[in-house]
Amino acid sequence: MRDDINEILVSEEQIKEAVVRIGKQISTDFAGEELIVIGILKGAVAFMADLIQKIEIPIEIDFMAVSSYGMGTTSTGEVRILKDLDISVENRNVLIVEDIIDTGITLSYLTKVMESRGAKTVSIATLLTKPERRERHVPIDYYGYEVEDKFVVGYGIDYAEKYRNLPFVGVLKPEVYEK
Ligand code: IMP
Ligand code: MG
Repeated sequence: MRDDINEILVSEEQIKEAVVRIGKQISTDFAGEELIVIGILKGAVAFMADLIQKIEIPIEIDFMAVSSYGMGTTSTGEVRILKDLDISVENRNVLIVEDIIDTGITLSYLTKVMESRGAKTVSIATLLTKPERRERHVPIDYYGYEVEDKFVVGYGIDYAEKYRNLPFVGVLKPEVYEK
């Protein structure tokens, strides 16, 4: 699996650093409040699991699944909810946790969904952002690292459902997806 990786963009150490930093910021910003932390399946699972342990205020967690890239490496442009929340966000502080924000299509859509459901506040935490690729404006409250416009995998992020279990974020060798 590691043989398929060309270069490491974000190391295990850097990920740990970002998780602690973002957890602290969230705990400070929402001191005295409560949060619903919503993980976007499946990519956000690794980041979400680590991040919630660094949040020091009362939270509830829930998950949503949306359609994104399918098996390819470019966005289709449409968003569909495949799995919806179990709990209501009405009048609650919502924190959406994502693995990577690319075009911004997914998050701009989900932000609107939360607002239309009467969320008190909607914030976004993402491990990675690719600002060069943005098509929709998304106000990102917390992010780990900016990455270049390269297809990345690891720490929850997949290519064709694989590589999510790598403990770092790396770039796949082109021959892996040109096969
Ligand atoms: P957006 O709607 O274009 O912002 O896409 C967000 C989703 O696309 C992320 O949650 C990822 O699942 C996927 N994605 C974006 N960039 C990459 C990448 O480099 N590798 C793997 N998945 C990616
Ligand atoms: Mg995703």
